[in-house]
Amino acid sequence: MKALAGMEVDRPPFWIMRQAGRYLPEYRAVRATTRDFVSFCLDSEKACAVTLQPIERFGMDAAILFSDILIVPHGLGQDVRFVEGEGPRLAPVTNGAELAALTMDRFHEKVGPVYETVRLLAKRLPGDVALIGFAGAPWTVATYMVAGQGTSEQKPARLWAYRDPTGFETLIDLVTTATIEYLAAQVEAGAEVLQIFDTWAGSLPEDEMERWVFRPIARIRAALKARFPHVPVIGFAKGIGPALPLLAPATGVEAVGIDPTVPLGFVRDQVQPTAVVQGNLDPLLVVSGGKAMHDRIETILRTLGPDRFIFNLGHGVVPETPPEHVAALAKQIRDWHR
Ligand code: CP3
Repeated sequence: MKALAGMEVDRPPFWIMRQAGRYLPEYRAVRATTRDFVSFCLDSEKACAVTLQPIERFGMDAAILFSDILIVPHGLGQDVRFVEGEGPRLAPVTNGAELAALTMDRFHEKVGPVYETVRLLAKRLPGDVALIGFAGAPWTVATYMVAGQGTSEQKPARLWAYRDPTGFETLIDLVTTATIEYLAAQVEAGAEVLQIFDTWAGSLPEDEMERWVFRPIARIRAALKARFPHVPVIGFAKGIGPALPLLAPATGVEAVGIDPTVPLGFVRDQVQPTAVVQGNLDPLLVVSGGKAMHDRIETILRTLGPDRFIFNLGHGVVPETPPEHVAALAKQIRDWHR
């Protein structure tokens, strides 16, 4: 929280995206007790338990609520499933009629267990560990809602946006409204920070990025600021490279997530003056581990730390990661000082 407020810190805080996940045997053990992934995300006791696992094992400075970005379309009434080894499958929304079937009517009831998970975490987390709530950004969530799955370039949503921008905007507006209510309820339940995941932001040219990435995130940021002025927001817009210096000024987020491909000098000179930055170790360096991982961590810490910086990976930790490598990463950061 101090780093996000721009205050001086002894060392940068750290957490890692997807820190509760399949690389941990204790996660797989709990996961194996519920077959369906959406039901697993909506089981507050289990979601709370797996959220705490990486904190107990590695001592991260923040816990991120365990859930998924596709819980929002589920709350809007879309059929959402996860197929083992393949990924998400949704009943695609491709036109105004299919869109009209989605509604906020029973939203809070359907996603309510997520708020209960946050309440349990707020009670059970050690006081010095920050609790991060999250949602997908409207653009990224919409790409899955329209395609019904992950696709190579998320073409279906991009094509709808070009062919019928007004119709597509109705979808983006609905998801934006739902996301504001969803994040506000997480704050009311005890989330201290929020992260917005825009994994597919980098698939868009300039004008579309402004309209479908910056504008909806700005609307979310402004609505939350009006209700909870003290709660900072981290924007993670993957793959937008040269547009990163625009993200915080255009949306009002306090912190900007950095993916592994962005040069550190660019982040320090062009992005850090606009926002606190978070990132950006390549997740595959944590799979390989050893000296190459430690050298890169040192370079990142020296270039971006210690203030206005949160150490993280540049994208989610992958299932083949040896947990010992995460332990070595955690030790290196905890032992580091200015
Ligand atoms: O970071 C955390 O620990 C919090 C939990 C979290 C998950 N997904 C758990 C999860 C968060 C923040 C997400 C975000 C998410 N989900 C994103 C944005 C960030 C990113 O990684 O790009 C996206 C695009 C999704 C959608 C999603 N969820 C996909 C495409 C998949 C399938 C791919 C895969 O890795 O299997 C998921 C499933 C998912 N979400 C898993 C986890 C731990 C694995 C499923 C399982 O355990 O059975």
